[in-house]
Amino acid sequence: MSTASSDLGHRHTILIVDDLPYNIDLLSSILNVDYKVKIAINGERAIKIVNGEHPPDLILLDIMMSIMDGYEVCRQIKANPERKLIPIIFVTAMEQHDDEEHGLTLGAADYITKPFSPVIVLARIKTHLALYDQTRELESRVKQRTVELEHYRQHLEDLVNERTVQLANRNEELQRVMGKLVQSEKLAALGHLVAGVAHELNTPLGNTLMTVSTMDDQLRQLDKELAAGKLNRKRFDDYLSQSRVALDLIHRSVRRAAELVSTFKKIAADQKSMKRHQFGVVDLIEQCLLQFRGEFEARSIQTLFEFESEFYLDSYPAALEQVLHNLLENTWVHAPIANQLLQVKLHLHSASTDNSGEHQVMRLVLSDNGRGIDPEILSRVFDPFFTTSLGQGGSGLGLYVVHNLVSGVLGGSISVESQVGAGSQFILLLPLSAPQTVTISVFDRAS
Ligand SMILES: Nc1ncnc2c1ncn2[C@@H]1O[C@H](COP(=O)(O)OP(=O)(O)O)[C@@H](O)[C@H]1O
Ligand SMILES: [Mg+2]
Repeated sequence: MSTASSDLGHRHTILIVDDLPYNIDLLSSILNVDYKVKIAINGERAIKIVNGEHPPDLILLDIMMSIMDGYEVCRQIKANPERKLIPIIFVTAMEQHDDEEHGLTLGAADYITKPFSPVIVLARIKTHLALYDQTRELESRVKQRTVELEHYRQHLEDLVNERTVQLANRNEELQRVMGKLVQSEKLAALGHLVAGVAHELNTPLGNTLMTVSTMDDQLRQLDKELAAGKLNRKRFDDYLSQSRVALDLIHRSVRRAAELVSTFKKIAADQKSMKRHQFGVVDLIEQCLLQFRGEFEARSIQTLFEFESEFYLDSYPAALEQVLHNLLENTWVHAPIANQLLQVKLHLHSASTDNSGEHQVMRLVLSDNGRGIDPEILSRVFDPFFTTSLGQGGSGLGLYVVHNLVSGVLGGSISVESQVGAGSQFILLLPLSAPQTVTISVFDRAS
């Protein structure tokens, strides 16, 4: 193979475009040895060959042709993006500099003038072919890289899509499982609550039933004795006093049951059953303290109420009253330590915006310096039926009701801090305007 063979591994093809057979023959004879030569005897034919399936690697183009001149041929070739890189060398008569410049601006690679020296023609052709080979080599590498990159990009896109689908599926599954969990927890909580209510009511109702059936037996006995003429005054008096004791027991049991029912009703207290309006908090707290003055004085408990100014809430006064009622009641029931002066303090702080920065909230702290709450049970005091005074009238529903009301209709939150022997603090955060709708239910604290 000759020195002119290309790096791409084929013999270069040169297209000679000229309408004079003499010129064609001359150039062919110079090129034939090293190159494959194609010939076009006019512009139209040349363009056909160039645009055909096997384009040449270089074009020797005569400028002066009769039908279509070399410039026009050049312009049309350069207009085809697939062929525009093929080097074109113009061939013309001697010393026509204007032609040379014009040709170069059209994109011609070079210029040779007639009469030509074969050595120079070959040298120029060789140079331009080498350049063209390099350009094509580079182009093909760039193309290959682009294809590779496109593959890679596609691969990444597929991967991301696949992962996104996987994540979406996982998320869906997680939500389904969580939904089920919440559902089953709510059911468990409801079961727990119902069992607690039944258990609480069972004692007074059981006592009542038992007493009533005893009274029934006694009455039958009395009836029999009367029919047999055996009833005397003493026997009758005995019966009367037994009946009084039994009635008293029934009375107490039924009252206890009624009290329990009224407490249970408070558990389910909702917005619809309460009246919402504007009210002053300071005024409401003072009313509450006044209402309990007798209870506090009887136990020598000191009360203190600190506030900066009156606050007006657009909320549910009955709910807040119930909350204060339960919290204050707990202070005289649970906090007192024998032979120690008990102090109960209420501190109302000025309103501030909450964490979200959206709502104005007030902070109310109710503290006592009493017995305090054991750290082991501190997290359970808001649970339903949790009490440390079982059998002493404690229902364990007081703080549960408080929690429901505060986080429900009142739209706030409550927390407790305590130290055994140093007292307890209940901290309430309440929005100045209660939420319009509440989704919190009686299950939230039941566990
Ligand atoms: N101020 C307080 N000081 C000490 N212990 C308290 C106080 N308030 C509540 N507790 C504890 O929290 C428990 C739950 O209170 P609560 O729900 O009102 O039920 P109950 O009063 O019927 O026991 C009480 O049994 C008591 O152990
Ligand atoms: Mg209580």
